[in-house]
Amino acid sequence: TATQSLAGKHVVVTAGGTKEAIDPVRYLTNRSSGKMGYALAEAALAAGAKVTLVAATDRPVSAGIKVIAASSTQEMLAAVVANMDHADVFIGAAAVSDFRVAEIADHKVKKQGDEHMVLDLVQNPDILKTVGQAKKPGQVVVGFAAETENLIPNARKKLQSKHADLIVANNVLDDKAGFNKDTNQVTLVANNHEPIAVEAKLKTELAEDIIAAVAALLTSGQV
Ligand code: C5P
Repeated sequence: TATQSLAGKHVVVTAGGTKEAIDPVRYLTNRSSGKMGYALAEAALAAGAKVTLVAATDRPVSAGIKVIAASSTQEMLAAVVANMDHADVFIGAAAVSDFRVAEIADHKVKKQGDEHMVLDLVQNPDILKTVGQAKKPGQVVVGFAAETENLIPNARKKLQSKHADLIVANNVLDDKAGFNKDTNQVTLVANNHEPIAVEAKLKTELAEDIIAAVAALLTSGQV
């Protein structure tokens, strides 16, 4: 039985892979399953928090969690921002598309003879960075970093550039980490702390470790 380490706290979590529409029937997305974000929402609920899950991927979820469906990055950002005023914690576990189609076509795009096809992409807003920059005293902001090299230095850079308090860093080349797996192997990187390497474990169990680290940050007086 989990301790009620987040009793009275409001946690906002993002999960899943955003979908960026091309036309009414097509979209761009990624391989994110949403498992890590959903596990974090469940662990936060078990720790006594009020939980808002902004999800781009639909999975089974406990009744006590408020789910807001968001398909695109812009929708996800709007839902997150609308909920941060009264939040104590933001955890950005979603795999957010860095780009979206510049202009979504009103009708299904047709083949043009044998011509090749070019999609014009523009950059999406960075949800984690937006929340980090607007962070109020006492709020804890957590991000993820999927890296293939220089894990810790890149995670430290991300702590700074996103104004985050904790980065959950994983090497996506590790066979126990990453997309659509049930396990993950991460290192927790926080300001003024030695990195903490967590052994490979189920995402559901790792979520409890991350929630414990969040609870410790909330009471640390550091944020
Ligand atoms: O910059 P990078 O994509 O490596 O950072 C990963 C972290 O930033 C994740 O926590 C992800 O949810 C978040 N992110 C975001 N909005 C973006 C891109 C990434 O919130 N547009």
